[in-house]
Amino acid sequence: MYIDEAKKKFNSLRNKSDITILSFESSCDDTAVAVVKNGREVLSDVISSQIDIHKRFGGVVPEVASRNHLLAVSNLTNQALADAGKTIEDIDAIAVTYGAGLVGSLMVTVNFAKSLAFATNKPLIKVNHIRGHIAANYLSHHDLQPPFVALVVSGGHTALLKVTDYNQSTLLGTTHDDAIGEAYDKVAKVLGLGYPGGPIIDKLSKTGKNNIQFIKSNYNKKELNFSYSGLKTSVINYINRMKQRGEEINIADVCASFQSQAIDELVVKTMSAATRNRCKTIVLAGGVACNSHLRSRMDEECKRAGLKLYYPSPIECTDNGAMVGAEAYYLIRGGLGLADLNLTPDSTINLKYSSI
Ligand code: KG4
Ligand code: ZN
Repeated sequence: MYIDEAKKKFNSLRNKSDITILSFESSCDDTAVAVVKNGREVLSDVISSQIDIHKRFGGVVPEVASRNHLLAVSNLTNQALADAGKTIEDIDAIAVTYGAGLVGSLMVTVNFAKSLAFATNKPLIKVNHIRGHIAANYLSHHDLQPPFVALVVSGGHTALLKVTDYNQSTLLGTTHDDAIGEAYDKVAKVLGLGYPGGPIIDKLSKTGKNNIQFIKSNYNKKELNFSYSGLKTSVINYINRMKQRGEEINIADVCASFQSQAIDELVVKTMSAATRNRCKTIVLAGGVACNSHLRSRMDEECKRAGLKLYYPSPIECTDNGAMVGAEAYYLIRGGLGLADLNLTPDSTINLKYSSI
């Protein structure tokens, strides 16, 4: 039986000195495959981005995304192994993101990874996308270890977590409505700037001024949840009002004002979470962790408060396969994450794990 053999191998991996993982990610519009050694060393990391395909629709079209994952995954797997100088025989375990994300997209690499695990009799490790984003920091920073407060900011997530150990975290706050990346993408769309909006707004903000007050920034510091729909709606209403009046919109000022106010909420609440949880280290993760304003504001605040700040390299902030391999490594060491062949995508998973 596959699962008996996989369990035996999985248990023996816990004490193996070196673990090499082949990992898959396709939760949104990037198909990504990587080979990662010991959770910290990226042997290869190949990504097929669909940005150019979805650009013309102004956002990700789920059905189109899954079809393109399907077209890409097989060749990317061969490339990831070749780039790492490995064959499938050298791989100790196969890891895959199984949620959260677009179900049709997740399904492609979940099924591919299941088939590969079955055909090669290797353990299959299921990885939570949000935890994968956090683990991307282990690839960039070899000295980083828990405990820390993590801020995960992407197109699908805005979450603050207290990470007490590699496999242990508590959710401190999340968004009541939109994710911050979603707000960036929507504002960019309304301004006619293209997709994905985050990097474009970030760039244009550098030439604009924070001179339009979209929201009042009197946050309750004890409340660690976020809300972005109010800010997003306020920006859209402003743009519509200006258009109705026939007034010229200063796009750079709109971008700078939106960005400054959106990032301010993240900074205030992340610093408050660290203070309240007596954490000396803060970690940023997810696509929005590329943001230059977030990075510089957090750098300043952490310096002032004497805290250590980590964020991944830009390529490891956005969706990638290596982060999945990093997270899977720590799951294996902790005896967690083993999946059977009934694994299915889950768009709404929480942050806990159990092993079968
Ligand atoms: O982590 P990611 O690749 O995918 C999800 O898990 O969602 O994040 C993509 C998101 C998009 O919303 C994109 O606009 C945003 O990250 N993003 C940025 C920047 N670079 C990417 N947002 C703000 N500033 C950036 N520099
Ligand atoms: Zn992501």
